[in-house]
Amino acid sequence: MSIFIKNIKKLVNVRETAPSAPLKGREMLELPCMEDAWLFLEGDRIGRMGRMQDLASGEADAMEFCADECIDARGRMVFPSYCDSHTHLVYAGSREMEFMDKLRGLSYQEIARRGGGILNSVELLHNTSEDDLLLQTLVRAREIMSLGTGAVEIKSGYGLTVEDEVKMLRVARRVAEETPLEVRTTFLGAHAVPARYKGDREGYVDEIIRDIMPAVAAEGLADYVDIFVEEGFFTVDDACRIFEAAGKYGMQPKVHANQMSFSGGVQVGVRYGAASVDHLEFTGPEEFKALQGSGTIATLLPGATFFLDMDYPKAKEMLDYDLPLAIASNYNPGSCPSGDMKFMMALAMIKMRLTPETVLNAATVNGAFAMGVADRYGSITPGKKASLFVTREIPSYEFVPYSFTSQLIDTIILNGKIIK
Ligand code: NIG
Repeated sequence: MSIFIKNIKKLVNVRETAPSAPLKGREMLELPCMEDAWLFLEGDRIGRMGRMQDLASGEADAMEFCADECIDARGRMVFPSYCDSHTHLVYAGSREMEFMDKLRGLSYQEIARRGGGILNSVELLHNTSEDDLLLQTLVRAREIMSLGTGAVEIKSGYGLTVEDEVKMLRVARRVAEETPLEVRTTFLGAHAVPARYKGDREGYVDEIIRDIMPAVAAEGLADYVDIFVEEGFFTVDDACRIFEAAGKYGMQPKVHANQMSFSGGVQVGVRYGAASVDHLEFTGPEEFKALQGSGTIATLLPGATFFLDMDYPKAKEMLDYDLPLAIASNYNPGSCPSGDMKFMMALAMIKMRLTPETVLNAATVNGAFAMGVADRYGSITPGKKASLFVTREIPSYEFVPYSFTSQLIDTIILNGKIIK
């Protein structure tokens, strides 16, 4: 299958060669674009591209003739698909009643202490079969595809037993078989201490290392390992033990870090070469210095900050420290029941004063780095996967995060196939 897209008003985040490292600091302010462009997709890859005005006479007609499909994108723009590097897409049921509790004044931690929160999702997932879980997850997978996401990281963490963690990660892998989404998986056994280990957190960490992680690794179900380092959840020492064990299976660390307190999650992530440390509401110069030059990406999850009504991370200061930022949705039933990357970018602009160029880079190129797919996703680059979307007629790329609830996507192409 080949697709010729002509008369593109603007090709956004177009890079002749793929960046070899995440964009950081001031680099994030630049969003390379090509005006009045054409793009030729060959099979599942981006083939060639150029400016309409540079085509010799008859060349556009020739490409149109050769291609299986031709899209006239006059007045419309082409963006690379979003790379959503932090989600909990696999879950059962929903938790809107806790949302009501939050509105009545209970905090996220108070709900967790009462046995709700993550443990509520654990119970729901335990009572759901793998096939039913897959059906529920596919609804969300199709939703995020329709919103422009092409690559997604999916965590476990609502299982907390061998059987249920494996079940979750199998479902995540099956999402990759059933949809054109690129899926990366993360083992998050240390998401909460299950009820059976109440008062014995270390005992549960023992079980993770002794039983759950080896079972996950035996089926090759996880690319990354993650831990929620937070008061009432897990400690820095737990993280060290889990990362050391995971190293033997080749799972690179990620951390739920500094969401509710200065937990040390950032520093331990950096120490173990984490791909990313995520959340970062409670961070300052100490954390920023630890991250500087480390190769670990600072991933912001503004949807959760918004939904939990918290103070936002100091993202502009992070850029002053020359850090690489990614933005992800954190789609999950407790702190962010949304996978809308456009809304996440809008929040990052409105609440953290980031520029449209920064948020678009954070949601594409740097998101791709944060989940190890930057060689194939995250920019319009020849040789990368043809995963992109064509907008409706829009005046500028700034219009995308600006019109934060409008559906602006007209055509979606994932891995070279038109899916909408
Ligand atoms: O990233 N903070 C921990 N984990 C999720 C929330 C999970 C849940 O509440 O179900 C997060 O915000």
